[in-house]
Amino acid sequence: MSEELRRALQDELTGWKPAALAPVVERLSTRYREGGAASEPILRTPADVGAYAAYRMPATYAALRRVLGEAAAQRPDLAPRTLLDVGGGTGAALWAAVETWPGLTSLTVLEQAEQARVLGARLVAGAAHPALRSARWVRGVLGPATTLPAADVATLSYVLGELPEPLRDEVVDELGRAADTVVVVEPGTPAGYRRVLAARDRLIASGRSVAAPCPHEAACPLAGADWCHFSARVARTALHRQVKSATLGHEDEKFAYVVATRVPGPHAANRVLRHPVRRKGMARLRLCAGDGTAVDRVVSKRDPDAYRAARDVEWGDPWP
Ligand SMILES: C[S@@+](CC[C@H](N)C(=O)[O-])C[C@H]1O[C@@H](n2cnc3c(N)ncnc32)[C@H](O)[C@@H]1O
Repeated sequence: MSEELRRALQDELTGWKPAALAPVVERLSTRYREGGAASEPILRTPADVGAYAAYRMPATYAALRRVLGEAAAQRPDLAPRTLLDVGGGTGAALWAAVETWPGLTSLTVLEQAEQARVLGARLVAGAAHPALRSARWVRGVLGPATTLPAADVATLSYVLGELPEPLRDEVVDELGRAADTVVVVEPGTPAGYRRVLAARDRLIASGRSVAAPCPHEAACPLAGADWCHFSARVARTALHRQVKSATLGHEDEKFAYVVATRVPGPHAANRVLRHPVRRKGMARLRLCAGDGTAVDRVVSKRDPDAYRAARDVEWGDPWP
């Protein structure tokens, strides 16, 4: 997490006693673990959004930072100026976006929960980046008739699973209509992956190109047998540890995602699908390959350039 966001969260949450937030964190964790569409907003009270900002926002921010970073690395031509964050909560995507694309000038958050908008707006109030400070926090409830404002990039992060099933496709279609680049992130569970896969299928059917993670627009080779997901390391703050009664200084946030663009661009040759297995003199990489298959590739010392690269490559990176 950037030092600036860490400090903003710390200043904003300093009034909360960990003992007051811990039961709320427990309730939210259980709710998010169970999944399923929400018939009413999950984040309602200041304590709900305080708990969310303390224990979830650092994790969703970490996932988004990785996702947007992969998209930007793969597609340096994107250089967006405007961003729309749909179901933006406390604004994790905004922080990740301006770090990825400092040229952003206009940020809009569409969010149903008033308390999330209030806290998100307070977090960005003292930010260095002018687009963060001037972000617009708009009340909006996604429904079948929702029309989204146009933007260069639209993010939908950890939202699809809260929407009733028939609405998911409509929201993805509307994102695709409104934005040049659509970013969908979900928890890295089999169910989250299936929702991302459904969004990916719709975006490709409407003529989109996949910027990341897939190195192709063919059918996902993992569907049915496995699920595509990635991992981002999250450093826990003291409050985060206290509200979760955790001892470790970090946690790994698992996520699934797709970034689809209107303008086609080059794909990565392959994408690393698991932690590489490294043994003396060799590394084994599980790859999603450009030809639409999932393969294991063994890289040995006999190929010194590839071996050196394989020592540094991580789960989620492009290969080579
Ligand atoms: C798990 S939070 C994710 C927040 C943020 N995108 C992030 O990544 O940290 C889900 C958010 O989606 C919002 N949301 C869910 N259903 C919505 C709807 N129908 N209309 C608008 N916002 C919605 C919730 O209020 C909540 O802020």
